[in-house]
Amino acid sequence: MPNQTAHQAAPLADQLRREASTLVHDLADALAVAIAQADERPALPPGADAALAVLDEPLPDRGEGARQALEQLLDLQARAGTNTAGPRCYHFVIGGNTPAAHGADLVAAAFDVLTYTWVTSPVGVRMELQALEWLKQLLGIPAGMHGLMVTGATMANFVGMAAARQWWGEELGFDVSETGLAGQPPMPVISTGFLHAASRKVLSLLGVGRANITQVPDGPDGGVDLDAFTRALEQLGGAPALVVVNAGEVNAGHFDPVAAMIDIARRHRCWVHVDGAFGLFAALSPRTAHLVAGFEGADSITVDGHKWLNVPYDSGYAFVRDHGLMARAFRYSADYLPDEDDPRPTLGAIGPESSRRGRGFAVWATLKAYGRDGHRQIVEHCLDIAQHFARVVDHTPGLERMADVPLNIVAFRYNPGGLDEAELDALNQRLGEAVIEAGEFLVGTSKLGERTIFRPAFSNWRTRREDVEALAGHIVRLGQGLN
Ligand SMILES: Cc1ncc(COP(=O)(O)O)c(C=O)c1O
Repeated sequence: MPNQTAHQAAPLADQLRREASTLVHDLADALAVAIAQADERPALPPGADAALAVLDEPLPDRGEGARQALEQLLDLQARAGTNTAGPRCYHFVIGGNTPAAHGADLVAAAFDVLTYTWVTSPVGVRMELQALEWLKQLLGIPAGMHGLMVTGATMANFVGMAAARQWWGEELGFDVSETGLAGQPPMPVISTGFLHAASRKVLSLLGVGRANITQVPDGPDGGVDLDAFTRALEQLGGAPALVVVNAGEVNAGHFDPVAAMIDIARRHRCWVHVDGAFGLFAALSPRTAHLVAGFEGADSITVDGHKWLNVPYDSGYAFVRDHGLMARAFRYSADYLPDEDDPRPTLGAIGPESSRRGRGFAVWATLKAYGRDGHRQIVEHCLDIAQHFARVVDHTPGLERMADVPLNIVAFRYNPGGLDEAELDALNQRLGEAVIEAGEFLVGTSKLGERTIFRPAFSNWRTRREDVEALAGHIVRLGQGLN
């Protein structure tokens, strides 16, 4: 039996070696076009669903080989792939790719980099740690904080809030990671109306429960009511709690009063987590740095890379004041794994993912290639684009701006006149679907208060003024067709 397996495996191994030896050459032209022509491709090719119908087939007994499989994949990507790195994707908060980051990510894929621990990739682990040091210097994160790369802001929030939960348990005299939450009081969590859905997801995973988050109401001026926030903390009666401060919300790019909330929280027994997924990049521009002033007082911080750092998906970063809490929260040990006190780092033992890819390559490469100044320019460029688009909206009949533009998001709607609010909401909802259907731009709708809005977020170095001018015309044309 073992002989038979060896006998059968040999021809396949021969084929795989042959394929591996020409793989990059075979792909080179297609990848070169994909990256070089990102400006030209539509945001979302129309007819994507129909193109993907071919995927519905049974598992082949005999494969077709790498070339055919990859040709089909490239064809489907062309016909049904969203051009997320292109200049016209403004849905969610989608960043671009700098060439250095993109290239480094291709290198990481080519070498199948595994950054679980030092021995699986000394260069991958060291790159990650160095890139995290540079990110701290770029954004003004305190040097003493300990960073970790994860898939995105959701998992960075998970790391920060898991560390918070570990701290909270230790404040109460127990070790959450060892004994669990059974029989313990609920961990109090206090935040504002800007709390992102990702934080709610994380708090549900951490056993808090979405329904148990205290959301401080807004005051009469629209911002969070700091007196109500103070009262909520006082009502804890000295019990330890987690406060989540939101530095950048997704509907209009507004911010919690970061410095004031941290200042108040510091007078109580709180762990402060700042979710700055994209908003922390405000620190890079003198125009917007005031929005995040004081964030360095946090105990844990979330930043995303695949948004405004313009590195490929997936890439997010958690920074935590106390490395020991990460190690205790995510303890991962067995006889065959590295010792917990091994001085060579095991990144898989201080975060949720054990096996993990080489995200540090892209971050290191983009910071090495363009430096602080280059990344500041990307942020400034996107701030300019947002201000320009806001002016275009203000001067385009049929478009109505719905909020000020503190950062990189412009909340607006189509308003041809003569319709009541409910009719406008319904019209903009249908228009949002028509925009996605047309595929020239990827831009989503949301709610600002009760109202349905478009909320393009600009975070890509590729986006040009003519792109956003075209967006305004596109929305009006499609709107006129629906009205
Ligand atoms: C403030 C904030 N937090 C968390 C997230 C979730 O990020 P990710 O999709 O990278 O996990 C986002 C995504 O837009 C966000 O804007």
